[in-house]
Amino acid sequence: MTARTGITIDPSAFFDTVRTPGFRTDPYPFYAALREQLPVVRVESGGWLVTRYADVLTVLRDPALSTDPRRSGLHEKYASERTEGTLGEQAFSHFQFLDPPAHDRVRAEFAVPFGPGEIKALAPLVQRHTHRLLDEMARAGGTVDLVTVLAEPLPIAVILDVLGLPQADAADVAAWAQHLIANDDPDLLVAPERRVAAATAATEFGRYLARHAVSGAGRSGNGLLRMVLDAHRGGRLSLNDVLVNLMFVVVASLETSAGLIGNGVAALLDAPEARGRLAREPELAAPAVEELLRLDSPIQYTPRFTVADYRIGETIVPAGSHLMAMVGAANHDPEIFTAPDTLDIDRRGRRHVGFGGGVHYCMGAALARMEGCTVFPALFARFPELRAAGAPQRREMFTLRSLSSLPVHLGQ
Ligand code: HEM
Repeated sequence: MTARTGITIDPSAFFDTVRTPGFRTDPYPFYAALREQLPVVRVESGGWLVTRYADVLTVLRDPALSTDPRRSGLHEKYASERTEGTLGEQAFSHFQFLDPPAHDRVRAEFAVPFGPGEIKALAPLVQRHTHRLLDEMARAGGTVDLVTVLAEPLPIAVILDVLGLPQADAADVAAWAQHLIANDDPDLLVAPERRVAAATAATEFGRYLARHAVSGAGRSGNGLLRMVLDAHRGGRLSLNDVLVNLMFVVVASLETSAGLIGNGVAALLDAPEARGRLAREPELAAPAVEELLRLDSPIQYTPRFTVADYRIGETIVPAGSHLMAMVGAANHDPEIFTAPDTLDIDRRGRRHVGFGGGVHYCMGAALARMEGCTVFPALFARFPELRAAGAPQRREMFTLRSLSSLPVHLGQ
């Protein structure tokens, strides 16, 4: 199929396209081709890509759809191909895989520190870690890899404090989370050795959390770890629920937030006027962060499952199908966003769907926004001459869109 973009998409070899350097660098022309000509299409994995904004929003919010692979008959496929050897059956107690009412019950126990009221209490923590890292960058001087010195260390420092875990464990926890997130791509893209690494990481991370659950952090701390252990003692969560969901919260928070910072800085380095305004007018941070999340969404797709035949426009998707709500594509839909491939921090109006939607809407959205609103103005105010010092490197993932390195001159 050839679209106005001049790009041909073969749905029977979609993941071959995904593996090409062109797609990795810039997937948006490919998404434009899909939106125009194959807006709801079955690809070789058996999954269905949904790329138009209106359809993606409907799919995200529709309570007729499920996120529990057990209800759609896809459970065995998921259990054997995706999680066997990592968390096996236990993985299904993480709440992204649960439908209401079980979803809401488990999520409520983990959501407390991330709520709209509570999140304000985390602002000083985010600022302290941001300025500490900027100080370290200034001391390093010259040329640095922004991913290594800022985009990755900030989210891990913040989430360890939120959980009530020692900062000294940052390197271990970040490494486990990297292996686990790498396992989150569609099956066709995950090499066997990635799966083995994820299995080992899950075992080690689980043991680490269990150790902390019985030690000081779990009993006397005041972080999320203590809160969910209290819920366990109160009979509201099993120990497995506690461990699986804590792991999930950590994994969900790290590479995503690092993606926002890395992708965001890379986009702003190409937009001198926008970054100058951001350094001078901190009140622009909130709309700028929304625009950066829209322009280059760190999570590009999120799953839903059909439990009965399901109509999207002209297409009937059969019961027991895996719908891939392509939020990265929806966020570039020209029906909704004028000049969608251009950064425009004055853009207002319709919301991006980079945090998903419906009951599974990102639990950490307020924290991620706070990190973005803190880091971008602080970085460009501190290093007004910051500039690229080489080509950014993309991570080789589909679900996640983030950088593995972003060399910059600090210009001091
Ligand atoms: C820029 C950073 C982030 C992005 C782009 C992002 C994006 C997303 C997306 C797309 C979903 C799926 C929603 C759906 O299926 O409708 C999600 C779910 C989730 N996110 Fe985030 N996220 C980010 C940061 C965080 C942080 C910091 C946390 C830490 C608490 C977090 C925790 C979660 C959790 C727990 C879920 C599952 C919610 C549920 O199933 O009810 N995320 N996120």
